[in-house]
Amino acid sequence: MQDFLILPSLLSADFARLGDEANAVIAAGADMLHLDVMDNHYVPNLTVGPLVCEALRKFGVTAPIDVHLMTKPVDSLIEEFAKAGASHITFHPEASEHVDRSLSLIHKYGLKAGLALNPATTLECLEYVWDKVDMVLIMSVNPGFGGQTFIPSALEKISALKEWIEMRHSSMRIAVDGGIKIENIRQVAEAGADMFVAGSAIFNHGDYAKVIADMRRQLAEVRR
Ligand code: DX5
Ligand code: ZN
Repeated sequence: MQDFLILPSLLSADFARLGDEANAVIAAGADMLHLDVMDNHYVPNLTVGPLVCEALRKFGVTAPIDVHLMTKPVDSLIEEFAKAGASHITFHPEASEHVDRSLSLIHKYGLKAGLALNPATTLECLEYVWDKVDMVLIMSVNPGFGGQTFIPSALEKISALKEWIEMRHSSMRIAVDGGIKIENIRQVAEAGADMFVAGSAIFNHGDYAKVIADMRRQLAEVRR
């Protein structure tokens, strides 16, 4: 069984104080940072590029950074984020002309590679590349914005993916992104997820340590 990891999404942090916010959530008990990169083309919003990832590293942020590319195309940004200090890079298969090549490119830099599946995307895209995928990010909202409501069909997809992974004896991780809160994290974990991205639930709460501890208390109750 994989450990449960909590990844605050910096999308909901105070961008004017991003370095402090990143260090604060890690000090509050989070495992990794999740950096949402949006290009106003693949998704209808515009956020940050590799410069900001590099700035976080220069500021002294040492925690792993999971870069979630919601951009099209992806390959040039994979290279730039690898050089800027990313530890994981996840992209959407619809946004790459050559998914296998993009996954290999991430591994070429020694990073963990992830595929992000939109709510309407099936598991089929994993069939011939799964040995190159370290984690699958199940989107439980349509990508583009923080603070949206969890789409319940994600639970069924997570369970199906969990079964799919077990059949193949794979160590691939299941991450979930969108609408994760104290109230639903346990149910999502029971479906099979082991990495939880949460933006608004953490950053809109005054006490980061309390909300992360409450999430961990819920995870400690999980029956699998
Ligand atoms: C949505 C992003 C998410 C987002 C999650 O496109 O990929 O990472 O920040 O935010 P919450 O947890 O507020 O739904
Ligand atoms: Zn994300």
